[in-house]
Amino acid sequence: MKDKTFLMIPGPTPVPESVMLDIAKHPIGHRSSEFSSILEEVYTNLKYVFQTQNDVFLYTSSGTGAMCAALENLINPGDKVLSLVLGNFGNRWAKIAESRGAIVEKIEVNAGEVINPEILKKRLEEDINKEIKIVTLTHSETSTGAANDIQTLCSLIRAHGALSVVDGVTSVCAMPCKPDEWGIDVLISGSQKGFMIPPGLAFLTANERAWKVYEQCKNPSFYFDWASYRKSTRSNSTPFTPAVNLIVGLNTALKMIKAEGIENVNMRHKKHCLALRAALRALNLELLVSEDKNASYAITSILPPEGISVPAIRKTLKEDYDIVVANGQNQLKDKIFRIGTLGFVSDRDLISCIGALESTLYKLGHKFALGNGLKTLIEELNK
Ligand SMILES: Cc1ncc(COP(=O)(O)O)c(C=O)c1O
Repeated sequence: MKDKTFLMIPGPTPVPESVMLDIAKHPIGHRSSEFSSILEEVYTNLKYVFQTQNDVFLYTSSGTGAMCAALENLINPGDKVLSLVLGNFGNRWAKIAESRGAIVEKIEVNAGEVINPEILKKRLEEDINKEIKIVTLTHSETSTGAANDIQTLCSLIRAHGALSVVDGVTSVCAMPCKPDEWGIDVLISGSQKGFMIPPGLAFLTANERAWKVYEQCKNPSFYFDWASYRKSTRSNSTPFTPAVNLIVGLNTALKMIKAEGIENVNMRHKKHCLALRAALRALNLELLVSEDKNASYAITSILPPEGISVPAIRKTLKEDYDIVVANGQNQLKDKIFRIGTLGFVSDRDLISCIGALESTLYKLGHKFALGNGLKTLIEELNK
C-alpha cells in the first residue's frame, strides 16, 4: 500500500491536517489589513514560543538563511569568532563566519559528544585581551543527535563579555531554550522542525547586547538586515513579500503550540525521546550519543547491528512500511540512521515506528527478543 508516507526524519517534519488546509487557501495580499492582523498574532506567539521579550524576526528562507541573518549582521572582517562544533551544523556557523572575513577558531568534539564547559572556560580564560568577539554554538546538533548544555555555555560566554549566537533549529519547541533567562544573545530556528509547518520560514531573536554589536557592523546584510526587520515587525508587516501561505499556516501551528503550552511541548519531546532510546536499547541497538543527558530530544542516531547495513534498514522501512528515517550525513553516511521525534509526533507514531523497526530488523536477521522494543516503549510512554 502506498501514499501513506510517514516522516520520522529531523525535518521536514509531519504537518497537522488543519495547518495544511490553511496553507492551501488562496494567497492574500501581504500589505492587506487581514494579513497584518495575522502577522500581529504570529509575532506575539513567536515571542511566547521563543520565551523572550525581544522581537522575533520572521524570514522567508530556510534555517541557514537565519544563520546568515545572524552572522552577516554582526561580523566585520578580521573579527575573531570561536565556533563550538559538534558536527555538520556547528561547522556551518564556522563557514558562514569565514565567508564574512572572520578569523575562526574551532573547539571540535567527536561525533556524538558535546562541549565540555570546562574546556570552553579554559579557552576563554586564555583570551586575556578579549579578542573573541562571538562564540557560535549549536543547541541540538542534528547530524549526531547530541545536545549541548546551552545554559551553562552561554553563561560562561556572557561572563567573558563575548556574544553567544545559538542555532536552535532543532531545539526550539523540542527542548527548553530560554534566551532571556539563559543569556543567549542571538537565537535562530527554522519552520520545518518543531514548528509543525513545511520548510520556508526562519526565525531570529537578538537582545540589546547583540544590537550594540550590530550597530558596529559596517556592511550588514541587505535581505536579512535587522533594522529593517525590526521596523517591519513592530508595525505588523514584513520588509519584502513573505511566504504568505506558510505564515497563515504558522499562525495556526503557533496557536496549537500555545494551547498545548510550551513546557508541555518540551516535555512531550523529552518523553518521546527517552522512551525511544530505551526501546532501541531493548532491541540491542547501540546509540551514537550514549548518555541520555547529552541527547537531543529532537533526533536519535543509531548504529546498525553487526552485518546489517543502514541502506537495508532504511529501504525496508520505506518499502514495507512507508516510514522514512534519515541516513547519517557526510562521514556518518551509512554509519548511522537517525529517527526524528520532532514537532507533530504522537505516541502512536512512535509505536508504529518501533513496531516497524522491530519487524525490519527481524526480517534482516538481527538477533533480539521479538517484542522487546515495543514492550519497553509502551512501558516508558506510560510511566
Ligand atoms: C541544527 C540545524 N541547523 C541548521 C540547519 C539548516 O537548516 P536548513 O536546512 O533549513 O537551511 C539544520 C537543518 O536541518 C539543522 O538541523
